[in-house]
Amino acid sequence: MDRIGVLTSGGDSPGMNAAIRAVVRCGIAAGMEVFGIERGYEGLMEGDIRQMDITSVGDILHRGGTILKTARSKKFMTEEGLDQAVRMLENYKIRGLVIIGGDGTLRGGCDLSDRGITVMCLPSTIDNDVGYTDYTIGFDTAVNTVLSAISKIRDTSSSHERTTVIEVMGRECGDIALYSALSGGAESVLIPEIPVDINEICRKLLQGRSRGKQHSIIIKAEGVDIPSTELVEQITEKTGQEAKLVILAYLQRGGSPTAQDRILASLLAEKAVQLLRDDADSRAIGKIGDEIVAFDLKEALAMENPIDKRLIELADILSR
Ligand code: F6P
Repeated sequence: MDRIGVLTSGGDSPGMNAAIRAVVRCGIAAGMEVFGIERGYEGLMEGDIRQMDITSVGDILHRGGTILKTARSKKFMTEEGLDQAVRMLENYKIRGLVIIGGDGTLRGGCDLSDRGITVMCLPSTIDNDVGYTDYTIGFDTAVNTVLSAISKIRDTSSSHERTTVIEVMGRECGDIALYSALSGGAESVLIPEIPVDINEICRKLLQGRSRGKQHSIIIKAEGVDIPSTELVEQITEKTGQEAKLVILAYLQRGGSPTAQDRILASLLAEKAVQLLRDDADSRAIGKIGDEIVAFDLKEALAMENPIDKRLIELADILSR
């Protein structure tokens, strides 16, 4: 394997640059030529491809986002789009790819692999909704960003003796909400995996007030099926106390990656390059416990990503 490509796809996440840097530098150290593909699968189909060298990934380790840009491509999901992408890789004589992104990116990787391209997938999304790894690249940074927002909101919430609902990202996975609620001491956490009981939330709020709590923080994942504005209205109405809403949105996707995300990105990228160098079959690479793991792509896609019930129980006990 002498020529490899690297791309980032789907929603960006902090640590993608650390992964790109490690792919390029490990690849060159292993004697390979490394090509950067811009705007994910879009740029692959269009031939937006350039050779990378050691200096082209200098000064990016600490930066959020992705220097290769990213996109969500509908065309790539068609037969025509896939054929175009494979032709482009043949033109450039790129025989192996490292793709960095979430589960949509992995599905695209499976399609390419079915067409004979060797693909190494690195899990990178703030949502942590990928089953074959404990943590995705970017998740730790996003949780720390939410945590820092909680601290600031707590100051004003406490001064005004209010309840504040903070909406965090996570369409189908409540991990950002759960980890930030647990580490930020929120009174309640609402996640898509568990049905919402507004009466129970209000009962807990009133009980806390009667014990002398002066303010409360509620963390709600965006994927929970009640709109946040409606939740805030209902809390105000049912408790008779003012509640406010803060939606953190894209703030959570930016920022300098934490040490944990940079190290995870570097270790997974190193493994991807080693597998390409050894002419291995396509693999989804993750970390489970202390071990770097590499699964068959279809097996990886089928792996479930259940919420950690133990953490939900602990968050509940600690928030009383
Ligand atoms: O990357 C994951 C994610 O940030 C989700 O948490 C969020 O729902 C979604 O992406 C937003 O995507 P877009 O960038 O397309 O608005």
